[in-house]
Amino acid sequence: MPNSALPTSIVIFGASGDLTRRKLIPSLFNLFRKGRLPERFHIIGFAGTRFEGDQFRIRLREGLSQFARYSFTEEEWETFAAHIAYRPGRYDARADFESLDAALRAWEAGPANRLYYLATPPSLFPVIIALLGETGQAHEEGGWRHVIVEKPFGTDLESARALNEQIHRVLHERQIYRIDHYLGKETVQNILMFRFANAIFEPLWNRNYIDHVQITVAEQVDVGHRARYYDGVGVLRDMFQNHLMQLLTLVAMEPPASFEADALRNEKVKVLRSVNPITAEEVATETVRAQYEGYCETEGVAPDSVTPTYAALRLYIDNWRWKGVPFYLRSGKALAEKLTQIVIQFKEPPHLMFPLPPERPITPNMLVLYLQPDEGVHLRFEAKVPDTIAEMRSVNMEFHYADEFGPTAIPEAYERLLLDAIQGDASLFTRADEVEAAWSLIDPIIAAWEEREQPPLARYARGSWGPVEADELLARDGRAWVGRGVHASGKR
Ligand code: BG6
Repeated sequence: MPNSALPTSIVIFGASGDLTRRKLIPSLFNLFRKGRLPERFHIIGFAGTRFEGDQFRIRLREGLSQFARYSFTEEEWETFAAHIAYRPGRYDARADFESLDAALRAWEAGPANRLYYLATPPSLFPVIIALLGETGQAHEEGGWRHVIVEKPFGTDLESARALNEQIHRVLHERQIYRIDHYLGKETVQNILMFRFANAIFEPLWNRNYIDHVQITVAEQVDVGHRARYYDGVGVLRDMFQNHLMQLLTLVAMEPPASFEADALRNEKVKVLRSVNPITAEEVATETVRAQYEGYCETEGVAPDSVTPTYAALRLYIDNWRWKGVPFYLRSGKALAEKLTQIVIQFKEPPHLMFPLPPERPITPNMLVLYLQPDEGVHLRFEAKVPDTIAEMRSVNMEFHYADEFGPTAIPEAYERLLLDAIQGDASLFTRADEVEAAWSLIDPIIAAWEEREQPPLARYARGSWGPVEADELLARDGRAWVGRGVHASGKR
């Protein structure tokens, strides 16, 4: 029997939590509706909470009304819900894991595949994985055993290494799927297609033609109900170590030889290892840390908290392709709008023969990858203004996903990631060495911020674009952050 024809058990640890009803079930349900789940599957929720009768499924159904981005019929839900069960249990009780295994075996009735999803607080990851090992549930006999590990993966390099070691005692690296949901986003995957399925961009994608790169992940939401988690974690651990570093690797990597998980991840690790780490001496000039006004009044936040909710970095990649090209990265909460974009700013033409008035110098070309919202790609270039001798204006060529593929074409990132983990494709998951390489860039910055208290914690108004210090970081280089919409005038 081919492996894919085996029954597949999907076990969600932490199933009573928000992630399950917000993301996992809506994604699994949509995969089911699209006919992409294995023919014989069941989903077992496991958590400490007790649910009476059908309560668990009712909770999931309510979650769908709130969070599903597609419409469905009650009949579809009922058919899907018949595959879902729930078992209360303790994460550190061997007996509960044994009875989970017995229940799974009873349903599987022979060789089967299993996907375990760790959607619990991270402190429980080692305990759960150890018990899966001790009760023989990580052992691949007849079918595969894959484990998806949610973020955050460690809180620094040391803890990430320790976690990797603990996991590797039980699982092979090929069984582990460390999630970074940014990699499940269509527009993030499209960076690879954009760069390597087109011949016209890659020859320019280097220090000879690119002036600098900006990566912005701006959020309008504040820390809200996640304050208790967020305070003490801060923006570098929450957003940079994972999402921004992943975006950086995809923009900067060399073309992999194949579209295969390790080929891709080898190139990404090379980028991280080529980044010139920001040292303690450099934090004051290469980084900005800031907190939005009113953050300390949030419930769950220490009144004297110095947790940064915003950061900006200037990074350099020391290799032949990128030497000397600054990569400016910024991310923050409670900003003016939600905007995730990568700006590739090209250099000015080497020689200009046009008689340009000094107040209207040339606007260099700019390529913007809009990752969310209004997903698309814009290219700005100069055009002659009609009926003038040589007046020019910047114009845009725009591609919008919504126009090209329809307004609902982009699925939830977790759909793709869950399916890949079921199908055994780890390309969009972070490998052990990759996670550690990313931490090794973030750790020294956090340490220097805390020890030297440099740069001073800046403040910014809610609904702004961040602190002036972040503008100054670029202004010192004669540059400016690019906001949404590269308008024809070349202005923000
Ligand atoms: C999560 C962070 O990983 O990503 C959150 O923990 C953040 O703080 C979220 O809000 C942003 O994700 P997205 O998909 O909305 O850009």
